[in-house]
Amino acid sequence: MIVIKNSIKEGGKKNILVKVKNLTKIYGRGELAFKALEGINLEISTGDFAAVVGPSGSGKTTLLNMIGALDKPTLGEIIIDGIETSKVKESKLYNVRREKVGFIFQTYYLIPTLTTLQNILVPTFPFASRKENYLSRARELLDKVGLQGKEHRKPSQLSGGEQQRVAIARALILNPLLILADEPTGNLDTKTGMGIIELMRNLNQKEGKTFLIVTHDQRITKFCQKVIHLEDGKIL
Ligand SMILES: Nc1ncnc2c1ncn2[C@@H]1O[C@H](COP(=O)(O)OP(=O)(O)OP(=O)(O)O)[C@@H](O)[C@H]1O
Ligand SMILES: [Mg+2]
Repeated sequence: MIVIKNSIKEGGKKNILVKVKNLTKIYGRGELAFKALEGINLEISTGDFAAVVGPSGSGKTTLLNMIGALDKPTLGEIIIDGIETSKVKESKLYNVRREKVGFIFQTYYLIPTLTTLQNILVPTFPFASRKENYLSRARELLDKVGLQGKEHRKPSQLSGGEQQRVAIARALILNPLLILADEPTGNLDTKTGMGIIELMRNLNQKEGKTFLIVTHDQRITKFCQKVIHLEDGKIL
């Protein structure tokens, strides 16, 4: 079941950013083969704040990984911003991922030896030779996520909520079209989690960033135009 609220904005057609067509993902082969997703069809429009919900093992992370081009489907198509990722060579997939998608994870995945500012800049390292001024953008993002004055701290000197803010700024540094978040509030207490939700909502509402969020948190799903329910690898 896909619950769609306000999916058509007044007077306008929405731009389809992600289209998933008949996606099936099978892990392993032969007797060990396991169908993690089967026959998934969905669309995410530019500006959506959308959620994926479902029990543990239902395929939520698998779906996010496929949409984020971290892994390839066994069958079916995924089209992001007009690019069919299953047709892109492995060596070029990296570029699609970098340019189109930002990731946020439950456990942040910051590099412990790097400072806040350096962690935010990590996705830009392959493009260090470009003329763009990533440092000034990183500083702007630092302010936007509320980490002013903490740019030289290491992750171990930050709270969980602050570490997630670093991860959000890192996800935004290359200005991706889509932010994929896997349980972004899963490791945070209620109040800190609320701060992260407000930050994501702000980015969606004020800057039009598109979000697809795997979550159990009803404080997130209540804001979502689309809630995709997965069970045993299928959309309910
Ligand atoms: N690399 C893999 N190889 C084999 N099976 C896998 C692999 N990754 C995931 N699976 C299986 O695919 C199914 C879906 O996994 P997935 O991680 O997508 O679930 P999930 O909905 O994100 O669960 P959770 O809420 O616990 O994070 C599970 O049964 C899991 O065991
Ligand atoms: Mg998961």
